[in-house]
Amino acid sequence: MALSILRCIECGHTHQLDEPVYVCGVCGGLLDVIHDFDSLEAPITRELFDKRLGSLDAPYNSGVWRYKEMVFPGAADNEIVTRGEGNTTLYKTPKKLAAWIGAERLALKHEGENPTGSFKDRGMTGGVTHAVMVEASGVVCASTGNTSASMASYAALADLQALVFFPYGNIAVGKLAQSVAYGAINVQVKGDFDTSLDLVRQACREFGIYLLNSVNPFRLEGQKTIVFEIIQQRRWQVPDWIVLPGGNLGNTSAFGKGLKEMFDLGLIDKLPRIAVIQAEGAAPFYHSYKEDFATRHTVKANTIATAIKIGNPASYVKARRALEWTNGIVEMVTDQEIVDAKAQVDLSGIGCEPASAASVAGVKKLIANGVIHPDDDVVAVLTGHVLKDPSVVMDYHQGTLDGFQTPYANHLRTIEPTLADVQTLLNQEKTQTR
Ligand code: F0G
Repeated sequence: MALSILRCIECGHTHQLDEPVYVCGVCGGLLDVIHDFDSLEAPITRELFDKRLGSLDAPYNSGVWRYKEMVFPGAADNEIVTRGEGNTTLYKTPKKLAAWIGAERLALKHEGENPTGSFKDRGMTGGVTHAVMVEASGVVCASTGNTSASMASYAALADLQALVFFPYGNIAVGKLAQSVAYGAINVQVKGDFDTSLDLVRQACREFGIYLLNSVNPFRLEGQKTIVFEIIQQRRWQVPDWIVLPGGNLGNTSAFGKGLKEMFDLGLIDKLPRIAVIQAEGAAPFYHSYKEDFATRHTVKANTIATAIKIGNPASYVKARRALEWTNGIVEMVTDQEIVDAKAQVDLSGIGCEPASAASVAGVKKLIANGVIHPDDDVVAVLTGHVLKDPSVVMDYHQGTLDGFQTPYANHLRTIEPTLADVQTLLNQEKTQTR
């Protein structure tokens, strides 16, 4: 077999890596990239990856390409399109935040520390590298804002034209600004994310454009390094739980595949449980999970966490598989829980965007419900940077977020330029608690 092939997860049909397909040509199922680990020159060991820590040279200085043998072993080093992504911090949760959540052993993996401010960069370095390999002339995605910001950046780096389809309105300003700045052609589709993704998938089939949504299996190969890095940062000790927000479910799928591969290769001796957290107004996967996946639900999505405002997740089948492999669960949280968790993460000094706070709100809820024990060893993934969605931050803290309580608001104060006003301010602040 070639070093890597594409294999349908439904019917097992295989395709070569350079065939222009994103789904199975026979049955339309999602594709996996399957690597023939046995044919690699050197065996995959913890030591191989440990040796590369602190590497100064591309691509091995990247927290994705450090694991190249498990991501895209056939890629030529000098053709890899990388921004040194990954290498993000695994924070010990600050005390006050941990107490608010009720968790004793929680760490936060901050994927907002990637070059464009979200975990998407890990997938994009894989996807754009493949696009270059197959000599694509342009790349396209539908996006709630982070995929597009990342794709626009990596496409520009590779000198490819990026084309982005956004759902109408509702894109956080930090994300839209990135896509504009990096030179993508930006199009608003008069419909929601699910409609935009359908349109893009049809357009790719019809017009042969290279698709960079997470149905592209090379994206997931990059994204699975989030769990590799978490476990390597913990000196190969596996946590009890890994908790992440779920939207289109690409990341959930990537985590499942990555963990299973680590386990099968003997890099870890047990699997953590995955907990996927959805927003209550965009929780089709949660509803399916609650019915033991008897029905594939879709919803008309609505949530303040626009990144995960998705009603028909494209990677549903792979995500279901990820839960089976890891004895995983799905929970949902309200928008109020999301904005409060976000305010707490922000006030701790770490900060994240609304969708990311779903992870933290989810851990809090699962501990309160007794599903996660307070002393379980838990890693929650923060998927995006605090500056991605500045409007939600300012509206929350000014108390102008329509329909929400804002108990942790940090109001902006205004004074005259006098010492008397400063004195009054200091006196007030002494007596005030947040
Ligand atoms: N968190 C953030 C910050 C995201 O941007 C996304 C997805 C998710 C979580 C959910 O990840 O889709 O793999 O389940 N954003 C996509 C986008 C849809 O277009 O940027 P998922």
